Amino acid sequence: MVRQAHHDRTMTSNQLRKEFLEFFRAKGHTVVSSDSLVPTGDPSLLFTGAGMNQFKEYFLGLKRDMRRAASCQKCFRTGDVEQVGQTPSHLTFFEMLGNFSFGDYFKKEAILWAWEFMTGRLGIAPDRLWATVYESDEEAVKVWKEAVKVPEGRIVRFGAKDNFWPSNAPTEGPNGPCGPCSELHYDYGRCMVGKVCPDPAKCRPGCPCGRFVEVWNLVFTQYDRQSDGSLKDLPAKNIDTGMGLERLTAVMQDKMSVFETDLFEPIIEAVVQLLRQEAPAVLKKDQRSFVCTIADHVRALSFLISDGVVPSNEGRGYVLRMLLRKAVRAGRVIGFSKPFLYKLVPAVAKGMEQAYPELIQRRESIAGVILSEEERFLQMLEEKMPLLEQEIRGTVQPEHDRRALHAEAAARFYDTHGLSYEEIAEACSREGVQSPSREDFEKALEVLQAQSKANSAFGAIFARDKLTELVARLQPTQFLGYGQELTAQAKTLCLVQEQRSVEEVRAPAPVEVMLERSPFYGESGGQVGDAGRLQGPEGKLEVLDTQWVGSVLVHRAKVLEGKIGVGETVTASVDGQRRRRTAQNHTATHLLHAALRKVLGDHVMQAGSLVAPDHLRLDFSHGKGLGAQQRESVESLVNEWISASLPVSVALMPLEQARKTGATALFGEKYGSEVRVVSIGEVSKELCGGTH
Ligand code: SER
Repeated sequence: MVRQAHHDRTMTSNQLRKEFLEFFRAKGHTVVSSDSLVPTGDPSLLFTGAGMNQFKEYFLGLKRDMRRAASCQKCFRTGDVEQVGQTPSHLTFFEMLGNFSFGDYFKKEAILWAWEFMTGRLGIAPDRLWATVYESDEEAVKVWKEAVKVPEGRIVRFGAKDNFWPSNAPTEGPNGPCGPCSELHYDYGRCMVGKVCPDPAKCRPGCPCGRFVEVWNLVFTQYDRQSDGSLKDLPAKNIDTGMGLERLTAVMQDKMSVFETDLFEPIIEAVVQLLRQEAPAVLKKDQRSFVCTIADHVRALSFLISDGVVPSNEGRGYVLRMLLRKAVRAGRVIGFSKPFLYKLVPAVAKGMEQAYPELIQRRESIAGVILSEEERFLQMLEEKMPLLEQEIRGTVQPEHDRRALHAEAAARFYDTHGLSYEEIAEACSREGVQSPSREDFEKALEVLQAQSKANSAFGAIFARDKLTELVARLQPTQFLGYGQELTAQAKTLCLVQEQRSVEEVRAPAPVEVMLERSPFYGESGGQVGDAGRLQGPEGKLEVLDTQWVGSVLVHRAKVLEGKIGVGETVTASVDGQRRRRTAQNHTATHLLHAALRKVLGDHVMQAGSLVAPDHLRLDFSHGKGLGAQQRESVESLVNEWISASLPVSVALMPLEQARKTGATALFGEKYGSEVRVVSIGEVSKELCGGTH
């Protein structure tokens, strides 16, 4: 049964992105720009994996200045990396279209609007759409049946694995906001090429024949999972939806694979062309999956690097490095022997120009980072192969396992030297030694990498401690410290001791103090939090550190003398010398950044920083190391600017205006609509929330 789709098949991905945001803007949503792939201010996550991540504080009730939002979010997930290229719709990097309600509208509107967008705005035939619901969610079934009028036969009930978010949250957690979801599936009216439907009469979403694709996930975030596993009703019910732009584009362009859409075709074409030029090898039909893998990975690499991730041996940089190696390996299979990935960056940037113009601006530096990492990997292969062969001979015990390499040894080698299972297996066969099975190898590797995996679990987004819960009730703290004022009177709103809210704390004891307003700077933008003193009517406290929890400032303190109570008025005084030193280091960080860009070029990107009273650190990406000469030039430039005592000025302006003045915005950094621009003479102009 092959049916033609009747909607407009010429819609481009660029149009779809716009249509979606415009649709929800007209429904009263604030269109929020995509957060960085490196989640802003959320160390619990390695990468942004869903549109809702950047709204975490709204879901938790910590921020309340917005009730409806819509976005097109850059996402990166590694959970399915092995599937990429093997299936028509798995990707590592993708864009998620989403609309969100923070205690505003709920199920009925979310469903009706999703339907209106798909059938009304995009013109998809209603009989092409199926709905799935959580098995016991009668409310959702009712909306689909009665309000939308979807025939009962096209409403399918699934369990928590498919229709709860996070998946399986009721039984497995994580604790925190969660809820049943309802998905929209599109019916292509035909099986995937090469597949036969096991039972056409019963074919429905989830069928392995690939006739259906899940396009939109509507999550009804209505519960707060407790540690005992119970689901408590949230005071505010939220909506979190996510639709993959790539899948939607495939549906609209009537392609069964995302790799055949306008999002991927130019990249795939670039791979094929390059292969023709560089390796006169003919691409075999069954090698297309490698081309798709390369296309996906080079997109992900470009966006990750653009957001400030640089290859390294840990954390995000490690994931980036591994992804690049996977892409290089796929390239070697189809015939590339020299660095090639970096030559694909222009194709990625060009295709994304409308939505992500920064990629075009940064394409040279992105390509530079990729090239040096490709070179490094190829060189490593050359150097490490002999080591691997030695290892194989050495670890094969003559008395037992005579001719087999242990999975643990192989995994350790992979982890230390980065040679893949394929390379290890190949070397084993050259040495006449049996290699471990891929399954055993992967199991051993999993044990080895359990730690880093635990950090990236994206369910952790909702992990929160008691303190977060306690401050969620409080009004945002007013920060007074941008002026010269380092001392202020303020009322204590809440005291927390050992994760419990208390009325009073006596010396000597640690306590977390929340004030209605404060001159203390809470750690952000790399600048450490302030320290200082609180003097109450009956006691004295030392503030050791200041941190933001949502929009509430938490003063981590110690009661030195007497006591402190809720509702008292205290004098809050920042340690002026510490703040001054920190401010000097912050200004110096800007100078260093400017000097690096002047000496090495505008492609230099700040990837992170630490600004403390006694030292500063600036992470930047440049693709290669600094020569002695360059280091010296940077150093003398900074020193020259410091001795010139250039004036430092701060101006508040709308983001657009700031961009026009040419202020440097940090990669991956997210800014509000009104921003602070910090200028140092004529040499530096940066968007910055810090103190100088
Ligand atoms: N958070 C949900 C998802 O990732 C819906 O956006 O699928």
